[in-house]
Amino acid sequence: MQIYLDTANLDEIRTAASWGVLSGVTTNPSLMAKEKGADFKATIQEIASLVDGPISAETTSLDADGMVREGREFAAWHPNVVVKIPSTTEGLKAVSRLARENIRCNVTLCFNAVQALMAARAGAYIISPFVGRIDDVGVDGMTLIREIVQIYRTHNIPTLVLAASIRHPRHIVEAALAGADIATCPFKVLEQSMRHPLTDIGIERFLADWKAWQQGR
Ligand code: G3P
Repeated sequence: MQIYLDTANLDEIRTAASWGVLSGVTTNPSLMAKEKGADFKATIQEIASLVDGPISAETTSLDADGMVREGREFAAWHPNVVVKIPSTTEGLKAVSRLARENIRCNVTLCFNAVQALMAARAGAYIISPFVGRIDDVGVDGMTLIREIVQIYRTHNIPTLVLAASIRHPRHIVEAALAGADIATCPFKVLEQSMRHPLTDIGIERFLADWKAWQQGR
């Protein structure tokens, strides 16, 4: 399973990229809105210069024509741009048109397996089921990942399953076990995942023993 960063914050992207773990980045309008004063195009292009992998940029039109117009524009910004389109019927129309032009689409805001099947049939490159937001309404979000993975594998569908709306390290583990191709994670969750008190205690002990050994030689 590949790890993407779910952010439009360039410092977070620079830091996680320096760890050598990033295969891509996803953004959305809410994440962009947190970057006060930033220019959308410049941000996406800067991200593309930092991470050599798919960079999702989200459309905000509600109609297919508008989504296609935005999608063509975003795709011209950088060859790694993937156009994010919502799971609606207008979205399906836009995905099928953009796919015919070889523009890759990430179908977002997916909350059920039929939306995922339809997105794949329209030609989606990535499907983004929102695990955390499903958990938030008292339903197990990871079940949706398992259903989509099973449907896609059973029917030889090449669309990539991207676990989105990841809220904690356990979500990453469960998404990987469920067979997701990608998990897109907030920076905080990636950082949190690498912290373990036994790792810190272990380092401390090794260093103390090393020092004692050196002094006793
Ligand atoms: O980028 C889409 C998704 O990951 C958003 O997550 O935390 O806003 O539900 P969240």
